[in-house]
Amino acid sequence: MAKLFDPFQIRSLTLKNRVCVSPMSQYRAKDGVANDWHFAHLSRFALGGCGIVFTEATAISSDGRRTHGDLGLWNDHQLDALKPITKFIKAEGSIVGIQLSHAGRKASERRPWHGESPVNEQDVKERNEAPWAAIGPTNEPYGKEWPAPKIMTDEDIHQIIEDFGLAAARADSAGFDAIEVYAAHGFLLHQFYSPLCNTRSDQWGGSFEGRIKLALDVASSVRKNWPAEKALFFRISATDWIDGGWTVEDSIQLAKALKDRGVDVIDCSSGGIGGPHPPISFPIGPAFQAGFSKEIRQNVDIATMAVGFIWDARVANTVIESGQADLIAIGRELLNNPNWPLQAAKEIAADDDYSLWDPAFGWWLNKRERVMRKLGLR
Ligand SMILES: Cc1cc2nc3c(=O)[nH]c(=O)nc-3n(C[C@H](O)[C@H](O)[C@H](O)COP(=O)(O)O)c2cc1C
Repeated sequence: MAKLFDPFQIRSLTLKNRVCVSPMSQYRAKDGVANDWHFAHLSRFALGGCGIVFTEATAISSDGRRTHGDLGLWNDHQLDALKPITKFIKAEGSIVGIQLSHAGRKASERRPWHGESPVNEQDVKERNEAPWAAIGPTNEPYGKEWPAPKIMTDEDIHQIIEDFGLAAARADSAGFDAIEVYAAHGFLLHQFYSPLCNTRSDQWGGSFEGRIKLALDVASSVRKNWPAEKALFFRISATDWIDGGWTVEDSIQLAKALKDRGVDVIDCSSGGIGGPHPPISFPIGPAFQAGFSKEIRQNVDIATMAVGFIWDARVANTVIESGQADLIAIGRELLNNPNWPLQAAKEIAADDDYSLWDPAFGWWLNKRERVMRKLGLR
């Protein structure tokens, strides 16, 4: 039975444990270029003992950004700015991954704290941030107040496939070990595979095979430009949580096809498709999406990652021990406590003497612990 702090092998990579940083947009980049904030933010998770540190959603093209503050990887300046981050994280013993994304009809959005609505004149006035035109499988907007996206032509679609490949090659040069393709939460690839959004009748829509074609061709394009020894993750929305929408059974079929295209891990999130369809209510609770990971893991010969509302060390360990997932991803709890993995290891008795910590911290903490025990304070 695998446990949270057992190593995990993907191709030639050995993760020291099963805890991954879930991609978290910081909205702090300018022109897609990483800066000191991204270095400090991501480095903390390496020092905190995470097995894989994933960057936030990083756009494959300028127009594919969700907000003006997103990271990007469509030019070499952006590539160079990411190098110190990959170098540091690897030197501290974590695997470093990048999430590649295209926002599709969700592009040109304001940062969460500016309203999570389309960029408008106020943003131009206050921050000199102008709106840009979004694209999508159809011209149905993401939400009520959103402008209609431009319907993508065959040429647009081929450009996306090529751009994912080019970004993968740049990610390799920047020193990343893992790529996660962002195909969840209502972003472009999810917009294509969800029947609620993709009503096209050409080869990129219509049937199930048509709707998943873009995701599969992107997987192949990334694999072609990404070394065979490096890992490829795919983040999907395992269900739309909406009647008539994408289902877990669809996710199982997609996962099988992605495996054939060289994908190693399915990261199982859910929801976010938007449009005029109200989501049915769903039960949020500890590890509430782990069931999707379990379904896919049991039905497809592929590794899975569970994510969502995981913060308790014992719950996290149970997800792995019970075979619901090979890996867990943690988001908000790592913002709260970047040392979560090291502290979780103590909590579930996987590290009694701070030996998982770098000695620069662990030697002192262990010494203090011995004194506290002597004084009866522990
Ligand atoms: C600040 C923040 C930014 C996020 N940005 C991304 C992102 O760039 N890509 C993505 O796939 N998910 C993103 N998410 C979702 C998280 O990766 C994760 O799936 C979600 O927060 C649920 O996990 P948690 O309960 O551990 O936070 C973001 C979440 C937060 C809190």
